[in-house]
Amino acid sequence: MSSPQVVRTRDDLRSVIRERVAPLIERGDASLGLVPTMGALHGGHGELVQAARAANDLVVASVFVNPLQFDDPVDFARYPRDLDADLAILEAGGVDVVFAPATEEMYPGGTPMVTVSAGEMGRRLEGASRPGHFDGVVTVVAKLFQLSTPPYPCRFNAYFGQKDAQQLAIIRRLAHDLDFGVEINPVPIVRTPEGLAMSSRNQLLTERAATAALALSRALGVLRERAAAGKPLNIPEVEAMIREDDLVELDYLKIVDPRTLRPIHLSGSTPGPALALIAARVDGIRLIDNMDLPGPT
Ligand code: PAF
Repeated sequence: MSSPQVVRTRDDLRSVIRERVAPLIERGDASLGLVPTMGALHGGHGELVQAARAANDLVVASVFVNPLQFDDPVDFARYPRDLDADLAILEAGGVDVVFAPATEEMYPGGTPMVTVSAGEMGRRLEGASRPGHFDGVVTVVAKLFQLSTPPYPCRFNAYFGQKDAQQLAIIRRLAHDLDFGVEINPVPIVRTPEGLAMSSRNQLLTERAATAALALSRALGVLRERAAAGKPLNIPEVEAMIREDDLVELDYLKIVDPRTLRPIHLSGSTPGPALALIAARVDGIRLIDNMDLPGPT
């Protein structure tokens, strides 16, 4: 396995992509896969890399802790940074190029004066308690798309986890609404054998809290079964199930349209494909999880 080429500047990223894609285009049917990350990589990121590696000639990963998406500067300062550990994971996944810019390189002159807005989708759900978070996400993702777009006619794919379902839905709209020539590829949630969705925050859970946290995936499973059987979802009953353990403090359980994130008003069974989202604090640690609900079959 050869080490990925690490580039630190926007100019170097553009030149490396140009240089590496040109011979692929000559050969015909070239593709580039981009995996944007903030580092602190875990098994979930491994899946993103694997999906990108399996489907593309050239795989580029970015490692950049984006200050624009943090509402609290203390959280930004505390965010774990260990590029060597990240590089080891990216190398094992067969990544070709790693873009790891400094903050001043990504935002020369400080916070940009012009940013991208995630619109109403960014103000719902997670956005309600983190104002500006999704605007920060789409601003950096738009920059990463611009910087990584390969020369035509190379196909351009980008990979995002379904774990952050709201982020994924917003980035799909970003690519569609602002005509970035990139295909957004969702990568399924990785779960422990018991069902807990993989997250860097899981490390903060005690054994007892990790067991209590299983209530989230259990509740989503119940909703999925009910939806598939065309039965009423009975949300208050499912909310009560989640709250059974004192360690679990439910923030929200919402059923939304996966394309717009607008709430689906339920009368009886689900009207068609829908997305169930849960956010809760478990022993003080905020966790999110989600599951697609099928329409009745
Ligand atoms: O999901 C993340 O790690 C970040 O929000 C992303 C997409 C890399 C943008 O900073």
